[in-house]
Amino acid sequence: MKMPKINSVSVKLGSLVMIIFLLLVIAIHSTLYMLFVRFHTNDRIQGLLQRSSNYSALLSDHFEKTTISHVLGMESLTNNLLLILDASGNRLGASDNLARLSPENLDKIITHGSLEHGSVVASDWKNEYYFITQSSILSGSQVVGKVIMLTPTEPMRNAVTALGVTNLSVAAIAVLISAALIFVTSNLVVKPLLRIIRMTQRISEGKHDWELIPSGTDEIAQLSRSINQMSENIQYYKHQRNQFLADISHELRTPLTYIKGYSEVLANDVVAKEEDKKRYLTLLYSQSIQLQRLVQDLFELANLEQGAFSFEFKRTSIEKVILNALDLMSDSIKETGIDLKYDPSPVSLYVMGDERRLQQVIINLLENARKYTPEKGAIHIATFAREDCCIIEVTDTGSGIPEKDLPHIWERLYRVDKSRSRTTGGAGLGLAISKEIINLHQGEISVTSREGAGTTFRIKLAKIT
Ligand SMILES: Nc1ncnc2c1ncn2[C@@H]1O[C@H](COP(=O)(O)OP(=O)(O)OP(=O)(O)O)[C@@H](O)[C@H]1O
Ligand SMILES: [Mg+2]
Repeated sequence: MKMPKINSVSVKLGSLVMIIFLLLVIAIHSTLYMLFVRFHTNDRIQGLLQRSSNYSALLSDHFEKTTISHVLGMESLTNNLLLILDASGNRLGASDNLARLSPENLDKIITHGSLEHGSVVASDWKNEYYFITQSSILSGSQVVGKVIMLTPTEPMRNAVTALGVTNLSVAAIAVLISAALIFVTSNLVVKPLLRIIRMTQRISEGKHDWELIPSGTDEIAQLSRSINQMSENIQYYKHQRNQFLADISHELRTPLTYIKGYSEVLANDVVAKEEDKKRYLTLLYSQSIQLQRLVQDLFELANLEQGAFSFEFKRTSIEKVILNALDLMSDSIKETGIDLKYDPSPVSLYVMGDERRLQQVIINLLENARKYTPEKGAIHIATFAREDCCIIEVTDTGSGIPEKDLPHIWERLYRVDKSRSRTTGGAGLGLAISKEIINLHQGEISVTSREGAGTTFRIKLAKIT
């Protein structure tokens, strides 16, 4: 089993828990010790003092042999030691277990202290073997003897030792719990984190061959899933970028090949007929126009995506936007034999927008409708209000878009039928630009289409008064 590193999260957490536990144990132990010692010393000494005072009072009343032996008899049932002396310190009676004491100790006790009524002779439970109290036996106001009582301090020391052992065991358990915590966090948190670190390092090196295996639903598992997702996204964007570059090269290659070929032919003076020369020149011109438009659209899209274009937002009439677009487009649409109809909203609709950019979107949609609608087809524009939005719909009866292509038509350079689009001159940028413009208006653009039946593009913008 690999040991966690000293500066790892698990060791830090475990040490913190251990320190907190130990501090708690020390605090609890100190408090218990203080309370216990104070309570028990007081309890034992006061009890002892009470007994010796009772006996001395009894003996003060009946200072005779029978009372002395009664008292000794009563005390013989306890663990206490009892000594009854006369005023000169002669022993009048003693409990049997007093023989446990050495004669020197006994002498010390007998000669110790004043004969004042009720006093504590020894209370040091740590260093002395007995708590000792004494009480005077009086006859009137004269002291005629004393009662000395002893009780062992050993049970007290034993109890304190037991308390210490219990608290030490708790401290040992705290250390064990901390060690377990280090082990568990190391396995549950640190190891997956290390894997995540290694994974992100690989991602930053451009390697996407790894995948984290998240288990459960905790934060680490969520992080692992997010990192897997991030790796997938990066891969996807890399692929997109490469695809985009490949598409661009492809788009540029075709007109450039034409331009190179025709200009070579013209430069070498191999074309004899004047009308052929003219045809080639016209082709050269149209290819360069197509190239120019492609570069312009790409530039525009890049600027839109970076937010580099400043929009002139003002109160804009939807009707005006559409009529302007129709002005520019209706002739070319009608020329192809397509029926064009505009159905304006009965109430004037206004949005906060850039008139020129919105017009550009409508032109893009009309151009598409024209390109993909056959002769005798129809294009229908309708505007209407729905709740607090303006809706613009451009519907055609053209070829429609296959369902599998629908989600992709907004992507740069995406065309459903690439060969067909080449002849119509589209590069697949119009819808990407339109979507970007509508997004910058906080609006939505969507499409519904049925292959062979037609397509409807719908723009939704916030209405203003
Ligand atoms: N009204 C439509 N009917 C059928 N297909 C459409 C329609 N509008 C768009 N499409 C499909 O979506 C693709 C993307 O449209 P988009 O306008 O972005 O590109 P394009 O028209 O081909 O080229 P560009 O607009 O750059 O000249 C088109 O190539 C076409 O396949
Ligand atoms: Mg287009």
